[in-house]
Amino acid sequence: MKFDTPATTNPIDQLKVIGKPTDRIDGPLKTTGTAPYAYERHDVVQNQAYGYMVGSAIAKGRIASIDVKAAKAAPGVLAIVTADNAGKLAKGSFNTAKLLGGPDIEHYHQAIAVVVAETFEQARTAANLVRIDYVPTKGVFELAAAKDSAKAPEANAFSGPPDTAAGDFAGAFAAAPVQLDAVYTTPDHAHVMMEPHASIAAWNGDKLTIWTSNQMIAWGVGDVAKTLGIPVENVRLDSPFIGGGFGGKLFVRSDALLAALGARAAGRPVKVALPRPLMINNTTHRPATIQRIRIGAARDGKITAIGHETWSGDLPGGGAELAANQTRLLYAGANRMTATRLAVLDLPEGNAMRAPGEAPGMMALEIAMDEMAEKLGLDPIEFRALNDTQVDPEHPERPFSQRQLVECMRIGAERFGWSKRNPKPGSVREGRWFVGTGVAAAFRNNLLTKSAARVRLDGRGTVTVETDMTDIGTGTYTIIGQTAAEMMGVPLEKVVVRLGDSSFPVSAGSGGQWGANNSTAGVYAACVKLREAVAQKLGFNSEEAVFADASVRAGNRSVPLAEAARDKEIIAEDAIEYGDLDKKYQQSTFGAHFVEVGVDVATAEVRLRRMLAVCAAGRILNPKSARSQVIGAMTMGAGAALMEELAVDKRLGFFVNHDLAGYEVPVHADIPHQDVIFLEETDPISSPMKAKGVGELGICGVGAAVANAIYNATGVRVRDYPITLDKLL
Ligand code: MOS
Repeated sequence: MKFDTPATTNPIDQLKVIGKPTDRIDGPLKTTGTAPYAYERHDVVQNQAYGYMVGSAIAKGRIASIDVKAAKAAPGVLAIVTADNAGKLAKGSFNTAKLLGGPDIEHYHQAIAVVVAETFEQARTAANLVRIDYVPTKGVFELAAAKDSAKAPEANAFSGPPDTAAGDFAGAFAAAPVQLDAVYTTPDHAHVMMEPHASIAAWNGDKLTIWTSNQMIAWGVGDVAKTLGIPVENVRLDSPFIGGGFGGKLFVRSDALLAALGARAAGRPVKVALPRPLMINNTTHRPATIQRIRIGAARDGKITAIGHETWSGDLPGGGAELAANQTRLLYAGANRMTATRLAVLDLPEGNAMRAPGEAPGMMALEIAMDEMAEKLGLDPIEFRALNDTQVDPEHPERPFSQRQLVECMRIGAERFGWSKRNPKPGSVREGRWFVGTGVAAAFRNNLLTKSAARVRLDGRGTVTVETDMTDIGTGTYTIIGQTAAEMMGVPLEKVVVRLGDSSFPVSAGSGGQWGANNSTAGVYAACVKLREAVAQKLGFNSEEAVFADASVRAGNRSVPLAEAARDKEIIAEDAIEYGDLDKKYQQSTFGAHFVEVGVDVATAEVRLRRMLAVCAAGRILNPKSARSQVIGAMTMGAGAALMEELAVDKRLGFFVNHDLAGYEVPVHADIPHQDVIFLEETDPISSPMKAKGVGELGICGVGAAVANAIYNATGVRVRDYPITLDKLL
């Protein structure tokens, strides 16, 4: 189905199942431990052996020699694979460094061997017996030091151009009576999802199956095939349950490749999980940024000049963190510029983490907006409202399809009690606490991408949906089930949803908060076809047929839906494909974050007291799972504000705090009352579902709202995340 004109009324609008706060249909499996992690799929293939990864102990250089003699002789060892005996391997399209390194080493803990043994303990013990001599070379590990050598990266589908400009930024900024020129920094972040990267691989002749934990199945199939030099038809990936991804599982990683290589060498199925201490430096992370923001305004508060420059680093051939991109779209102002610069660093490879670009970008921009409001003597909400725009400010001929940023701010202000706020920093004290409140805008784009599904109706009236879409903890199973139930006029219990298998039609996958809208739109398209086939089979005019109460009816004739499939299952498959609506309209999601903090007057310990998010993100398909997405994102935003930071060893080039003891994330005691409000919105430009995403919107702006609340509480402006107490004393 081609979607190239705004959606009109369609069966989804009935909202009998869609739009209802529905429990996750996979919830019982998750809570009873019967939705297995990839590593725990003992039943999928017999005779599984264990692979253990050996990671490089240097960040850059080469291997002079590997001696595997002692390891090979260790009890239970079946095979050892290194670059020497792995055969020819290509680099995947989505990896910056090789997933199996050697003799050249590109980053610390790059995989350089896998040891396969009968048991996990035997594999781990033998891995420790592999003797490696390295010749290290000097690397560059510090963004601040590499910043001046940074260059404009190449544009790609996600980034747009590295530089944008409109009007005369330099002139307008210089002439502005009120100016801000400030630098903000965000550190490297780790996804630290619950389920480590893990895969089980088995060969059947030249056919390879990998049971894994992966967000983007078709990308993974392509990259496994490319890396091994085998046809894509020979690769199957299966990833039905995923214990979190946050972007760290967008691409297949070394666990999948090492399992495949180990299984080939050992002649039997092999499973590999990355232990937590290897994950941080072996897999990807959100790169640190340095961001300079300049805003110039007239005395009335109208922005006349806005500029955002960002620097980040990555391995040679890697990508930039697009932290300036939201500044192209968020506020009005005739004179503007953004610039993205990328330095070469020899740290582990950087890549997408929840709301790549906007998450760190909004952490900086929304402090800058707070600082500017203060300089102007304006309330931070009024300042943002004054500079709202309903069109893309760089391309004024492109309106936003929907934009309720100001509404989010106003409704949030009322709900949060913003009018009671004392704008003078450091003026509210309750016992040993300074108390303050802060606000920030939330912003994240809405991306459209093709998504396919297959739906089948059987003689019992059960509708089965099959698509390679994934559920990374987001509630995909449920919203896909709700979509099929709404379209076919059956209760949710009559829908079976099967996900994550590459033998199913290729979906949008889970990334960039595009999963919900695109994957359900693909199911919608397949259901339109199924409805036509059912109507035809039962002798209805498909224009007139109404699908409701597990029946099909028109006029005074009504037939049970199951009747259509009494003798033979009916199968329909289709994809949603988009025209150029997203070129004519800018599609984004908006929100407002409100935070109240207490800061201990003696120790400067920060405690969050209240958090509120107001979101405008198209139709909310399932308010319950959407709310869970937003509170999860708010929690992650609180982590970024107050504690999350990968500590770089600047001499040896690795992240030191490579476990959950050293890389701190919020726990329940850190998180207070959280509220989420969704505005009524349907966006007919986004898809027939009229929906968008919320899973990444929810994190964007949270860090700045916390920072702004801390400033309001204490009068200390911290521009360097995380805001640990040493920076407040
Ligand atoms: Mo997201 S960082 O694109 O999984």
